Amino acid sequence: MKLSIETAKSLGALNTFGINAKAERFAVLQQRSQLDDLMAHCRAEGGAFFLGGGSNILLTRDLPGLTIQVDLRGVAIDRTHAAGIRVTAAAGENWHAFVMHLIDQQVPGLENLALIPGTVGASPIQNIGAYGLEVMERIASVEVLDWQSGEILQLAASDCRFAYRDSIFKHHPGHWLVLSVTFLCPHPAEWQPVVGYKELHDMLERETGGPATSASPRQVADAVIAIRSRKLPDPRKIGNAGSFFKNPVVTPLECEALLQAHPDLVHYPQADGTFKLAAGWLIDRCGWKGRIAGAAGVHENQALVLVNRGGASGADVVALSQAIQSDVHDRFGVTLEPEPVFL
Ligand code: EPU
Repeated sequence: MKLSIETAKSLGALNTFGINAKAERFAVLQQRSQLDDLMAHCRAEGGAFFLGGGSNILLTRDLPGLTIQVDLRGVAIDRTHAAGIRVTAAAGENWHAFVMHLIDQQVPGLENLALIPGTVGASPIQNIGAYGLEVMERIASVEVLDWQSGEILQLAASDCRFAYRDSIFKHHPGHWLVLSVTFLCPHPAEWQPVVGYKELHDMLERETGGPATSASPRQVADAVIAIRSRKLPDPRKIGNAGSFFKNPVVTPLECEALLQAHPDLVHYPQADGTFKLAAGWLIDRCGWKGRIAGAAGVHENQALVLVNRGGASGADVVALSQAIQSDVHDRFGVTLEPEPVFL
């Protein structure tokens, strides 16, 4: 089946920042039977930009060439393996709806990642993570199309070079198109809630009246939804792409020097001896929380989130992010790296 190609398509409703840029040419991939046509277009144009839920991109210009929105659907649950429940979900499935569907089907394991905007296919790209869990911990393999060779490959999780908000896909944009992701989730009898994140732990104890370690998958999801809703702006109401910067990682010496000058610095020891710093705290300390910069701004409850107050361009957001990076660098000597992909 052929793709239907639109021209000068507005992307305003297709990116959670709500930036009003256009795609020169645009098509929605709805069925695998369109893959041959998709490859022909990609080869003719020398590539394409593959769009998921648009929740981790910043559009800084109109996109030249072809943009493909991936809308493949379908979820299959296989309980026949002793190692865990294998769940394969097509790339276009909405992430949060997928997580809640699994809870309804008694498949635990992804509840800490409830309410993250975006699609299943985008989840491995930046290795989404929240409240003590990264999706790499549950991914068995990622099915991709290499549009240049025409091959469909199953990349094992160990091939994906997953790291904090990072993967092989982030380093080779446009090379592979993610078609589906296979997760390995624990059988309910073997599942343990991940409640190491203090805010989640405390909320579960308050809400359930029992130990956090006895919470059900749904109770964990409900608590995560409540925490996220309190802190993070709803992209349907105010444009944003979640955390705008990664939490920076520093050496033990750097961390010690910073702690001498700022004893309340929020820092987390990592397994390799380094320390992760809370970028939100650094930005907040520079006085940016809630500040307005024209049509862009910094969210009033979470300094790590930049927002589109209405009509912001990508350039407005970039200018704001650079001003923040510069202040944080001057004050703490720490370089903040953006989390979304700039296009
Ligand atoms: N903080 C401040 N001021 C702020 C924001 C945060 O002082 O304006 C302090 C908080 O008090 C806390 C610390 O910074 O002590 C960390 O804040 P929080 O727990 O809100 O988490 P985060 O480090 O800001 C990260 C992820 C989020 C994820 C949460 C929960 C990154 C870049 N961000 O945020 O992910 O939901 O932890 O696990 O790693 C995303 O990637 O889009 C995202 C939202």
